[in-house]
Parts: sequence; structure tokens; C-alpha cells
Amino acid sequence: MKTAQDGQLQSKDLLGIEQLSRDDILLILDNAAGFKHVVTRTVKKVPTLRGKTVVNLFFENSTRTRTSFELAARRLSADVINFDVATSSVNKGESLLDTVETIEALGADYVVIRHGSSGAHQYLGRQVRASIINAGDGQHEHPTQALLDCFTIRENKGELDGLKICMVGDILHSRVARSNILAMTRLGAKVTLIGPPTLVPEGFSAMGAEICHDMNEGIRNADVVYMLRIQLERQGRSLFPSLKEYKQLYGLDPQRMRHAKQDAIIMHPGPVNFGVELSRDVMNDPRTRILDQVTNGVAARMACMYLLRGARDLEA
Ligand code: NCD
Repeated sequence: MKTAQDGQLQSKDLLGIEQLSRDDILLILDNAAGFKHVVTRTVKKVPTLRGKTVVNLFFENSTRTRTSFELAARRLSADVINFDVATSSVNKGESLLDTVETIEALGADYVVIRHGSSGAHQYLGRQVRASIINAGDGQHEHPTQALLDCFTIRENKGELDGLKICMVGDILHSRVARSNILAMTRLGAKVTLIGPPTLVPEGFSAMGAEICHDMNEGIRNADVVYMLRIQLERQGRSLFPSLKEYKQLYGLDPQRMRHAKQDAIIMHPGPVNFGVELSRDVMNDPRTRILDQVTNGVAARMACMYLLRGARDLEA
């Protein structure tokens, strides 16, 4: 595995947490802390990527991630193009590689891609000079989400070493869960996955996580309760009896939070299905960090773009 050296990442692409060492992750989180100062001050811009071009290419729906990447690029003074897949030649049958090569020929230095197929990013990364950044590939990985989540936890709890982090819900279909399990365990946290056996199969224990099918037991003494959306759009068939029953067994409400540590924080990557995985009043709980996650996403993505090898090489 290539690791962080001389304060920079050795790779030009950000494909997944899988490719990052613990040092790489910590390097990104340290830099994100610096960029958080930038995005929370009155003048929110730095000239780091002036003259560079970032293209957002989203084949799947997104609100937070796309806007966050756009803002991160703008805060770094890059030019940003949001490629409109719906009205593009993709609809005339142009392949993903042709599309990305065209974008690169137009001068893109970074291509941020959300695509339904895992593996697409890796392939493109080998074919083009531009930095490819994975903004979600099917059910596989969503590395920048995990980085912003670890950043948020670190901001609230200090280092992740030894923390008990529970992820609750549709682990099976969640790229957020996969990237987070990799990142959190690499940083020394104890991860417990909670949900029905159909959504939390035993195989996940191979990733170093514990599995628990009882919510009250699973979140006992948790430092972080991380809720996930039921990804109905990815489920070919119903994997639990009804949303009502799911809510009763695995939904988070103030009563259930009593089982976690008193100062446990509550997280969710969004979008939230209110009334299913979270009750509305959890949003007003002072321990909820869901909007902080959104804010921190910009800083974490700025750090990633800044640290990728291509950016530094171009800077020199
Ligand atoms: C997630 C995603 O798209 O993977 N959302 C996000 O990026 N903030 C999770 C989800 O859709 O449930």
C-alpha cells in the first residue's frame, strides 16, 4: 500500500478508503482541520487550486455530496463545472471513458464521479491523467463521506482509538458503511453493526466489526450512534417485514438513546427518512451532529483535493 510521505498522498486518485493507510487518513483529517478554519472565517477562500479545473460528474442522485464538492473546489479557487449527465451525450450512448476523456481534453484536472458501478473509478484512474475522486460507487465505497465522518468524530471525541461506534441500519447496501468501517477500524475504533440479519449479514465481521441484531444491547455504552437510511432503491425485494416494524426495532428515539453513553453523539450521512430510522425530535437533540457533518464535508473534501498527488505536482 502506498502511504503518506512528506505530508502528501502518494496517489493521484481517491478511489476508496481501502487504498489509504492510517497515516494517509490522519494526514487528510489534520489538513481538514486547517481547512475548517478557512471555511468558517469571513473570507472563506484560499488560492491553492487557482487555475485548476474540477468537473463534477454525477450519474446518481445527490444533494449534499455534489454541492459539497462544488463548494470545496470553489473555496480552493478552482474553476468548477457541473456536468449535466441528463442532457449530455451519455444519452446518445457515449461511454464513460469517452465522456471522461472528453472532459479531460477540455482541461479538467480533477473529475469527481458518482457512478452506480464499483470498479469504474479504478478503471478511469488508470486511463486518464486527471485525478479521479470517488463520490460514491454503487454499494462499494464513499470515501469522502467516511473522511468527513471521522473528522466530525475526532472534532467531538478526540482520537478514534478505543471509541465504541455503532452503525445502525442498512449496512448491506451502504457504501457509507463500508468506507466508514474501513476508516474507523483503521483509526482504532471498535465498530458494532446493528440491524436485522437480512441487512447486517455475518460476513461483515470479516471487516473487523462486531455484529448485533438487538438495538438496545448494541448501542450500550456507545460513544457514537451512526444511523443509516434504508436504501429502498437498492433493495430488489423486501428485506424486513414493514417500515413500522423496522422503526420499532431499530429506529432511534430519545428513549433508546438512554442506552448509549450520556455524551454519545448522533450522526447520519443524510438524506434522513424521518419517522423511520430517526424520530424528528432526535434532530433537536443537542448531541446530534448531522448538520456539522455537512459543514465538515467541505473541509474534508478541500483536504482531499489539496493532498492528491496531481494537485501538488501541478503546483510545483
Ligand atoms: C449517502 C449516499 O449517497 O451514499 N448519502 C450521502 O452521500 N450523503 C447515503 C444515502 O444515500 O443514504
